[in-house]
Amino acid sequence: MTNTESCTNSLKGKHIVLGITGGIAAYKAAVLTRLFIKAGAEVQVIMTPNACEFITPVTLSTLSGKPVIKEFFTANTGEWHSHVDLGLWADAFVVAPATASTIGKMANGIADNMLVTSYLSTRGKVFVAPAMDFDMMLHPSTKRNIDLLKSYGNIIIEPAEGELASHLIGKGRMEEPENIIKAVAAYFDSKQDLKGKCVLVTAGPTYEKIDPVRFIGNYSTGKMGYAIANEAAKRGAEVILVSGPVEGLQVEPGIELHKVESADQMLAMAQQGFERADVAILSAAVADYRPAEYIDHKIKREKSGIESIQLVKNPDIAATLGANKRNGQILIGFALETDNENSNAIDKLHRKNLDMIVLNSLRDAGAGFGVPTNKVSLIFADGRPQLDFPLKSKAEVATDIIDNMLKL
Ligand code: CTP
Repeated sequence: MTNTESCTNSLKGKHIVLGITGGIAAYKAAVLTRLFIKAGAEVQVIMTPNACEFITPVTLSTLSGKPVIKEFFTANTGEWHSHVDLGLWADAFVVAPATASTIGKMANGIADNMLVTSYLSTRGKVFVAPAMDFDMMLHPSTKRNIDLLKSYGNIIIEPAEGELASHLIGKGRMEEPENIIKAVAAYFDSKQDLKGKCVLVTAGPTYEKIDPVRFIGNYSTGKMGYAIANEAAKRGAEVILVSGPVEGLQVEPGIELHKVESADQMLAMAQQGFERADVAILSAAVADYRPAEYIDHKIKREKSGIESIQLVKNPDIAATLGANKRNGQILIGFALETDNENSNAIDKLHRKNLDMIVLNSLRDAGAGFGVPTNKVSLIFADGRPQLDFPLKSKAEVATDIIDNMLKL
């Protein structure tokens, strides 16, 4: 298998924004574009005005199959190019070659062209392949700016040593396109760390029917559980998502989604899924009680004479799975508390035979039901120290949970 072929799978279908800046190495961007396209990626090229002095946009638009973006507006039509849309579209943003000037602008947020503006809006991984003269590379300002980019989580594809355009010999030559492709592919590959694993997730509330028009429920919206299921699927897992009634949430392609309503139904599906699962993450807010009796007609205010509803205990899904856990299976639960947070969570961790519990407190602003953010602590059964995280988006919390689940 050739190097390019081995990259094919991880880059297939990926959205790559390729930012080209004004340096001699810009000519190599044509080969880079071609290799991304051959590997099955979609490429949108953005060029700085100076880059157009080194290589023509026509070459890049022909190779990428998309018009090159150079400015905020297309001069003849007035069409606006949205850097925000591009930033959301990109799975990876690759700046190659990256001049000292663009690196400085990226490091300091100087958004005076389409490339840097799109960079600031990008949520995908950013790769920077510097290319400049030997002395520029060694300058303290370049070093500081590169360190700043690293501190933002950007990946620097270090330049190679060799003869430079100035005929000086040293470090500064842009890494070869084949190696840039490998670095980007390796990033997507490493994120496939759940390949071959089956992850069961419960999410959302349960509804316990009182009569045909009423139920006992709770405020859970399912956002946290869906974020976990989507993150696990993106990282290559086979995902079984057992979801209570929720609205407007998207699932990644390939997720096996089972919609249920009551705790009994959720238990039945979860038990079935648990037979195949390596890991179960139970984020559902399961109703603890249900009406002892379902009344099959609408209870009338005057005629029914009902004053109270007799309740019976629902099954505890987490505890049931915990009691039947096979060797090597991992069980993760949630605890949403309002007081005595830590001791309640630790009690649940042991009572339900969990390996890890995700504690969130309703006393923390931005945590809990309905909001797009969460603030959690992870507590482990094997005695490793508790981890306390700051307020983050639920997608980021899902990443933290899965990263730590992998360490179990
Ligand atoms: N859970 C479950 N089945 C239930 C109740 C809870 O699977 N019938 C799971 C939740 O999905 C969560 C964990 O158990 O992962 C803790 O849920 P929580 O409602 O906090 O626990 P309870 O045991 O119901 O405790 P309490 O209501 O006393 O806080």
